[in-house]
Amino acid sequence: MAATSKLVFILAVLLLVSGHQASAAANDDPAPYFLGKWELLPNNPGISAMHSVLLPNVDEMVIFDATVWQISRLPLPDYKRPCPMHQNKATNVTNIDCWCHSVFYNVNTLQVTPLKVITDTWCSSGGLDVNGNLISTGGFLGGSRTTRYLWGCPTCDWTEYPTALKDGRWYATQALLADGSFLIFGGRDSFSYEYIPAERTENAYSIPFQFLRDTYDVLENNLYPFVYLVPDGNLYIFANNRSILLDPRANYVLREYPPLPGGARNYPSTSTSVLLPLKLYRDYYARVDAEVLICGGSVPEAFYFGEVEKRLVPALDDCARMVVTSPDPVWTTEKMPTPRVMSDGVLLPTGDVLLINGAELGSAGWKDADKPCFKPLLYKPSKPPGSRFTELAPSDIPRMYHSVANLLPDGRVFVGGSNDNDGYQEWAKFPTELRLEKFSPPYLAPELADRRPMILVDETEKAAPYGKWVGIKVKSAEMLNEFDLMVTMIAPPFVTHSISMNQRLIELAIIEIKNDVYPGVHEVVVAMPPSGNIAPPGYYMLSVVLKGIPSPSMWFQVK
Ligand SMILES: *[C@@H]1O[C@H](CO)[C@@H](O)[C@H](O)[C@H]1NC(C)=O
Ligand SMILES: *[C@@H]1O[C@H](CO)[C@@H](O)[C@H](O)[C@H]1NC(C)=O
Repeated sequence: MAATSKLVFILAVLLLVSGHQASAAANDDPAPYFLGKWELLPNNPGISAMHSVLLPNVDEMVIFDATVWQISRLPLPDYKRPCPMHQNKATNVTNIDCWCHSVFYNVNTLQVTPLKVITDTWCSSGGLDVNGNLISTGGFLGGSRTTRYLWGCPTCDWTEYPTALKDGRWYATQALLADGSFLIFGGRDSFSYEYIPAERTENAYSIPFQFLRDTYDVLENNLYPFVYLVPDGNLYIFANNRSILLDPRANYVLREYPPLPGGARNYPSTSTSVLLPLKLYRDYYARVDAEVLICGGSVPEAFYFGEVEKRLVPALDDCARMVVTSPDPVWTTEKMPTPRVMSDGVLLPTGDVLLINGAELGSAGWKDADKPCFKPLLYKPSKPPGSRFTELAPSDIPRMYHSVANLLPDGRVFVGGSNDNDGYQEWAKFPTELRLEKFSPPYLAPELADRRPMILVDETEKAAPYGKWVGIKVKSAEMLNEFDLMVTMIAPPFVTHSISMNQRLIELAIIEIKNDVYPGVHEVVVAMPPSGNIAPPGYYMLSVVLKGIPSPSMWFQVK
């Protein structure tokens, strides 16, 4: 090879391996020997975290379980009485329930504020609206057609509309669209989808959805389908082992993707799926690709083996990805260090993915899993295959069925839940878990603390319309340069059953870097996403990442 063609070849290879996710330089391990750290929080909220979402600005987690057991470990305080009526699962009798099933949990002060929910939130769905308020949907029995609203304030509590939805939504997925509206997909025996109606109105109809019938099997491995808004405004929907692209305006299936072989991926053979970071370019019209990651799951029969044969089979150990915006999409698969079912997938500000919680054996369902995954896995999407996984420091608390994980603004990951039992059972092999933890990913290594960039929140805009250029003031000992810098924003997801609804990460286009606007303070100008198709309206955790070290994030509203 002549010298010049060799150079061209090397450049081409470099471009290929650096991928389109995140710039490789910004993603190098800043502290390769620090494998993360676990902290047990000093208090527990008295309920097991089956569902969790971080409310923007107030930095309160909303945590809730289900009313169906009529019991938790947190009594409803006097000022919240009278106690609601709840239906008992064992007897079907409705009687007075004076236990709490939902709380605010302040991630800074660790204060627990009890809330009162009337309808059953068991295996429900949710998402945040443009103003960062929680809209929750579905659940069990009287909860299944409910819409619920929860604002973040010290005296706020649930407002519930039990007959708002047309169809029952138990194990359904709520998806935020480009215009800020929500569609809700599926649920047990509901082969349909529908918009969340305006508050105080009820849906007269739902839209039949053949895809959910086609992917149904006798063990229902298509519950909690994965739904992602892709940059052309359509929805990528994965259920069981198949996927489609749906035009939600025309209710029309635009394309079918190749099936993903190897097993089943949705509840109860629950895998972990995220939409990988969406990278934006300075060229406003450049195509934005969307790539989906699906890791683990189980064989389609896993739930039957566990329930009926009392035999827990190994989970799947593959991790597959596909560029769903590609004209010629294919799944490419590699192996994880260990099999995993029911892990949570957390997008980190660096553009990496944390696979945390879960089990090596079995499926979702009570007492249907064993061999907890104590070690989280760090997955670096921009690295070449074979060098993407790092096993991190283990916890010693099993977090299997009904556990959660959410990224916090300081860069740590909130971890809670695990209830392998029908009700609260502290004496079981895997007890109902009330304890909460925070996990510090490797980028929080103590030796990196001095190098951590900080956003000067008071000197930075906190909201902007689509497409606007925004200057972010950054305090950092090191100068900024475009090769070592990323600016990311992450939508806080609604997490339950190992699905993180509406989680997405956008890597913003950097327009300009001005070092030392005054000593030690720099400014990076970024372009807000061009439209709701890339970033639905709402609050995002905005973070500046320098040489792989993310700043604490600030709340930023785009609309
Ligand atoms: C409770 O109701 C469910 C659903 O309607 C039914 O399948 C179950 O048998 C009932 N249980 C009892 C104890 O009546
Ligand atoms: C997808 O799942 C169905 C139902 O379990 C199964 O019949 C089919 O063979 C699977 N397809 C692939 C490609 O694995």
